[in-house]
Amino acid sequence: MILRVRFPIIPASMKLSFLPLVILVSAAGAWLGVAAEPAPIYQDASQPLETRVNDLFARMTLEEKISIVHADSKFSTAAVPRLGIPRRWVDDGPHGVREDVGPYSWNSAGRTDDYATWLPVLSALGSTWNTDLAAAYGDVIGSEARARNKDVMLAPIVDIARTPLCGRIYEYLGEDPFLNARFGVNYVEGLQSNGVAACIKHFVGNNQECGRETINMDMDARTLREIYLPPFEAAVKEAHVWSVMGAYSKFRGENCAYNDYLINQLLKGEWQFPGFVMSDWGGTHSTAEAARGGLDVEMGTLVGSEDPSAYSKFFLAQPFLDGIRSGEYPVSLLDDKVRRSLRVMIATGVLDPRPSGSLNTPEHQAVARRIAEEAMVLLKNDNHALPLNLVGLKSVAVIGENAVRHNANGFFGAGVKTPYEITPLDGIKQFVGDKASVTYSAGYTKNGGGSNLVAEAVAAARSADVTIVVAGFSHTRYQDDEGWDRTSLRLPYGQDELISQIVQANPRTIVVLVSGPAIELGSWLTQVPAVLQAHYSGMEGGHALASILFGEVNPSGKLTVTYPKQLSDSPAHALGTYPGTNGTLFYKEGLLVGYRWFDAKKIEPAFPFGYGLSYTTFKYSNVKLIPGDGTNGIVTARFEIENTGKVAGAEVAQLYVHENNPSLMRPEKELKGFKKVFLKPGEKQTVTIPLNQRAFAFYDPAKPGWVAEAGDYQIQIGSSSRDLRLEGRFQLRQTVVEK
Ligand code: BGC
Repeated sequence: MILRVRFPIIPASMKLSFLPLVILVSAAGAWLGVAAEPAPIYQDASQPLETRVNDLFARMTLEEKISIVHADSKFSTAAVPRLGIPRRWVDDGPHGVREDVGPYSWNSAGRTDDYATWLPVLSALGSTWNTDLAAAYGDVIGSEARARNKDVMLAPIVDIARTPLCGRIYEYLGEDPFLNARFGVNYVEGLQSNGVAACIKHFVGNNQECGRETINMDMDARTLREIYLPPFEAAVKEAHVWSVMGAYSKFRGENCAYNDYLINQLLKGEWQFPGFVMSDWGGTHSTAEAARGGLDVEMGTLVGSEDPSAYSKFFLAQPFLDGIRSGEYPVSLLDDKVRRSLRVMIATGVLDPRPSGSLNTPEHQAVARRIAEEAMVLLKNDNHALPLNLVGLKSVAVIGENAVRHNANGFFGAGVKTPYEITPLDGIKQFVGDKASVTYSAGYTKNGGGSNLVAEAVAAARSADVTIVVAGFSHTRYQDDEGWDRTSLRLPYGQDELISQIVQANPRTIVVLVSGPAIELGSWLTQVPAVLQAHYSGMEGGHALASILFGEVNPSGKLTVTYPKQLSDSPAHALGTYPGTNGTLFYKEGLLVGYRWFDAKKIEPAFPFGYGLSYTTFKYSNVKLIPGDGTNGIVTARFEIENTGKVAGAEVAQLYVHENNPSLMRPEKELKGFKKVFLKPGEKQTVTIPLNQRAFAFYDPAKPGWVAEAGDYQIQIGSSSRDLRLEGRFQLRQTVVEK
């Protein structure tokens, strides 16, 4: 069994040192005897960033300034040719560089050079629990963005998976703020190391598609700070993300993209964010509010209009210019927006020679495959039903429309025009070759099944040695699609009934789920021996799947979303807060999102957060809590993990913190560290996880600030949120408040 090696990740510092190239170019000019005019300061890459920004800013006319704070096509802002400012091209999305559209419509631009690597979706990336892969993922997107001449990538999404019905849940990393923060930081660093700005989104909430453009979020300050903001805060403070997209919805009555509290006070004030805030597409509704509320770039869509001049009617276009001229808005509002755009352009090298990037390389495809392999989560594996052994296997029946469906170009903004897509059936057939026969029957289709399809599939299952049902959603409307939440957590198109019949015909039935998380699994769950969550797993997904099914790769993914036994067990649904009341979404569960709710209410989930099986077994031992030395944090947990099975494998050790007698209500436990460890059979490794002050802190709105209070803490370490193997106690002697 192979566990593939890690990829080296080129540090950002190495990639952004283009200075030698600039010096070389000027030296060549001197040698040729060209009496060059001294270049303007803003074009001199050796000058400090702010000096260049000030110089360029000072040369711009009012009209030129206005032209760069709003779109001039679906995915660009205007060039200022007089000053050598090129058009700024932005693009989706989180899973690969999107196909070019328009430029004034959503229709395909019809190009042949806009194919791109399709990576596994973000819910898959999160499930790897391997943050090196988040950096590699961002690096692929950044490199391909350069090759496609994009300056800003509308990615990653770090919104929290609050309800499993959310139509974009496959685009979300998971339900835990700490996990989302760690993945978001590495993704942004990997992407931006290519001289491309990340645009982290959607600030903030964006927890459901239903009513997303108008809904008003009502949540308390602690919930905002502890659950929904941490991934954004980490991206700003640690990864220095260059842009942020405001959510469509409202927060406390004001639009998120120009919400005085969220943008001016918190993001730009408290966190000192130096980059720009961009609206979501068509998410701006007022010049005055956008101008004053901190929106820096208005993007959007002109429904039904192919007339480029219509962009001059945008709220931050002519109406803003008129308002400045009439004195309604101080010009300082515009100046700040312009400086932010210029700062990002110059910092990402838009005015300098930049790396050219590369597109659809075998290396990028290998990253896609590696992520898919590490992302798949083995949910059930009774009596070692998996891996399948090709020796002695004569026939495999593959059943289900998801075995052949192409998923890459679905998902609206999250879709990718991929040069190829290995489906589950392709992957299985290629792996099996001529060693066994592989048959395919649909069993159902998204256009309705009918008893013929079921009967054919049951007959195929009956006559095969092993049956693999590839079930899931169809990523069309109401099934993992932007703009529409799911209407049910159950499998559509009669798949529950189909699987029940298949397993009766052939008890050796493996169920593979191609979907975003989570699914409410039918009564067949107790009858089938093995279930694998395969996600929408990118262009190499079918290869990764076959490698896992046949034991070439040992599964090591873990869930980042709790799978409830029934939808009504999930907090937003248990409390009846979904999809909102009279236009307001009450976050009544507060801090108790995901596993925090299941813990507090003592509800048994179908599969808990952090859960995932392996073909091998791991033993945890010898935990020690070592007081910090002031650099590593305040305490470091050290423990050992041993691979006690017969095959190589990887384990994700998870660390949760529990405070014994908190002065404010706290969740039962919270994820504050994790590490993925790769072990050969019999190998033992020492794992260290440092914990800083924030790992112990809660947000106290009365201070206001983050309070790590003196007291007793339990550090719990284990294989999932419900399989804790080690415990240590730690006493924090002094209360510390971080403002
Ligand atoms: C989505 C964004 C996306 C934008 C541009 C919006 O509908 O919410 O995530 O970046 O469209 O495609």
